Amino acid sequence: MARDPLRTKLCDMLGIEFPVIAFTHCKDVAVAVINSGGFAVLGEAMHTPDDIAADIKWIRDRVDGKPFGIDLVLPASVPPSGSLEELESQIPASHRAFAEEIKKKYDVPEPKGPIALHQWGGLNQAMARAQLDVLLDERVPVIASGLGSPAFILKTAHERGIKVLGLVGKTRQAKRQLEAGVDAIIAQGYDAAGHTGSMGTFSIVPEVAAIAGDTPIIAAGGVTTGRHLAAALCLGASGVWTGTLWLASRESDADMIIKEKLLAATADDTTYSNCISGMTMRTLKCPWTEEWAKPEAPRALAAPYQMLLSSDYIQAANDHRREDLMTEAAGQGVGFVTAMKPARQILFDMVEEALAAFEEITGELE
Ligand SMILES: Cc1cc2nc3c(=O)[nH]c(=O)nc-3n(C[C@H](O)[C@H](O)[C@H](O)COP(=O)(O)O)c2cc1C
Repeated sequence: MARDPLRTKLCDMLGIEFPVIAFTHCKDVAVAVINSGGFAVLGEAMHTPDDIAADIKWIRDRVDGKPFGIDLVLPASVPPSGSLEELESQIPASHRAFAEEIKKKYDVPEPKGPIALHQWGGLNQAMARAQLDVLLDERVPVIASGLGSPAFILKTAHERGIKVLGLVGKTRQAKRQLEAGVDAIIAQGYDAAGHTGSMGTFSIVPEVAAIAGDTPIIAAGGVTTGRHLAAALCLGASGVWTGTLWLASRESDADMIIKEKLLAATADDTTYSNCISGMTMRTLKCPWTEEWAKPEAPRALAAPYQMLLSSDYIQAANDHRREDLMTEAAGQGVGFVTAMKPARQILFDMVEEALAAFEEITGELE
């Protein structure tokens, strides 16, 4: 094989050595991956505009001019209406009663502090717009949109030299975003942690790659080994976008209880449900997800109402570090996350294993 199979057009576009993107909420993980030759996108949808500006500076101070990205929920996907109180008043009494029953059954305490979710850009258009303005003002190298089409920011972002990545779970969403001119598409499959659609990673990636022309496609959902990376490139992707992989890393600021749960978990310990946010989402199973999966449970509400309903449980579980109640987004590749390694080693192991996989298929790499 004459060419390094890991040197892809995504590497050229982002100016990185390895075609691996870490999605993380942890700045230390982001910096470790960036400084090891990968790329990192920091999830900031739950942060105030001031915090986002501070985090951008913190990263810039540590990466010596290397590029990075920030991920937000874009205002186009946020309901225009309503104060928090107005939104909460629309939650039906029957649903509140069911949530209360769960709390009683599992002895869920009250949260200790203010509900973190209330900062979420997905609840408030003005907040989502202000978050986005920080990214545009700061001219961050890359903006990624986890929820909502980024088409409406492309012109402004491109004028400022910002690249825009759109995350999709359906081929028709990819088609629209490609037509709008996004710089790369993250094709995310059902295996993924967090909000995700119903199409498998093995199906969505080649389907989106087939319509993408020269635009790089990034495969997401269940990618936790070098074999996944090699397979993603064979499916037509130019790189991978990974979340679960970094949660139990040495640098990760996830609670040690969550890290231990992840290290012990397999795909069977994850569940795909809309009971946490109202949108389908893969997380570790917990009493909340198990109770809503029962036939007698009410149908989960739409977003953002279900998220407001679940937020007390989620926050109480975390505030009180109740191992029996806690959950986290986790993908089906979690079974390969078995050791608490430094992020740099996770990246290098993935690269080495991908190269070995190519070698196994094609013979010696030159
Ligand atoms: C703890 C956690 C939180 C996540 N939160 C977001 C988010 O806020 N915005 C977003 O675009 N994606 C979010 N994701 C999804 C990731 O961007 C990514 O698509 C997913 O983790 C890929 O699947 P994998 O975990 O199997 O690698 C989250 C993932 C994890 C693990």
